[in-house]
Amino acid sequence: MIDFKSYSTHRSAGGAHTLAGLYYTSPEVFERELERVFYKRWICAGRSSRIVNPGDYFVETIGRESLIVTRDSGGAARAFYNVCRHRGTRLCGDSSGQFAGRIQCPYHAWTFALDGRLIGAPNMSESAGFRPEDYPLHAAHVHEWNGFLFLNLDANPEPFEKAYDPLIRKIDLSRWQVSELQVVHSISYDIRANWKLAFQNYSECYHCPKLHSVLSKLTPYRDSWNYFDEGPILGGPMRLAAGPGGSMTMDGKACAQPLAGVAGEDLGLIYYFTVFPTLFLSLHPDYVLAHRVQAISADHTRIVCDWLFHPDQVSRPGFDPQPAIDFWNMTNREDWMVSELSQQGVSSRAYDTGPYSQLESLLAAFDRHYLRLMEGASGARAAGTLPA
Ligand code: FES
Ligand SMILES: [Fe+2]
Repeated sequence: MIDFKSYSTHRSAGGAHTLAGLYYTSPEVFERELERVFYKRWICAGRSSRIVNPGDYFVETIGRESLIVTRDSGGAARAFYNVCRHRGTRLCGDSSGQFAGRIQCPYHAWTFALDGRLIGAPNMSESAGFRPEDYPLHAAHVHEWNGFLFLNLDANPEPFEKAYDPLIRKIDLSRWQVSELQVVHSISYDIRANWKLAFQNYSECYHCPKLHSVLSKLTPYRDSWNYFDEGPILGGPMRLAAGPGGSMTMDGKACAQPLAGVAGEDLGLIYYFTVFPTLFLSLHPDYVLAHRVQAISADHTRIVCDWLFHPDQVSRPGFDPQPAIDFWNMTNREDWMVSELSQQGVSSRAYDTGPYSQLESLLAAFDRHYLRLMEGASGARAAGTLPA
């Protein structure tokens, strides 16, 4: 049995040192993360464009749960556990598709409306007391924000606006037209490393001179500052060495016109934000990069990276996002390579916590936020297996 309290307070006092190895390796810690983080917080499920029309759907996995995400006939995004209310059968086997106005179980053909109501249950009228209204699909919460879909499996989640209040209040994403952007390219990476190593890697540029030779030339690694340094939103801007007209691309030049609301100093800045626990948002003058983090197990993470451009740019003759795609695909792979090396190292019996540098203050903040969620008494006692 793991004593989380003593590990975290002893090993990570004040956030000055890295987390103990078990946080990256232990199945017991991962179970607790499912209960306290991934089944409780808002989880990014990608862009709203995944479900444009009523009946469009995709299946999203959160921890061990399978969710059907669809759009109902009124145009509202909906999410349901992929579980039939009759005998529990998984309703939907395909990863995406289009429902013909309803969701039907492949077993005994119970049929659900796109808003989750049970609208067909063959022969069940013969069962005394059976009332279809008692058996809607189990719903999850959905929130659409700037063209992103977020899901929450908690029965009474913290309201989205409250959960991400600092970002919503202080950063006007409409300057980057984020709600209008379209995915022009997407890559899914499977990484043999814990999801927190990916967050920690994204949250510092201490590693940039050694690891990212191209990136380091475009944005000098110390030329950055933090807008958010505590809580679920962390990050801030880095200055482009090239100034206005530059961007994060293979040749350092913007590959599209600036997004409509980007002006003044912002033309020479890249903003990097982490949205705990599943999204990295990188705002460039000419495009936006979104990394979506899926924790699969203690040592396996899937990251889907979307390159988002404005439709007006995409439709221009000669539009070519490839320099941005190549740049971030290369940089991503450098980051995942070193994250996998980190996973291997922190799994060693020789690993002990190490001191964070001044350039890693956001990692200490990430750890503090994470530990606050992991340490609270209620979840530990409710789980019944972990000490308070
Ligand atoms: S299990 Fe779905 S209809 Fe029977
Ligand atoms: Fe990096």
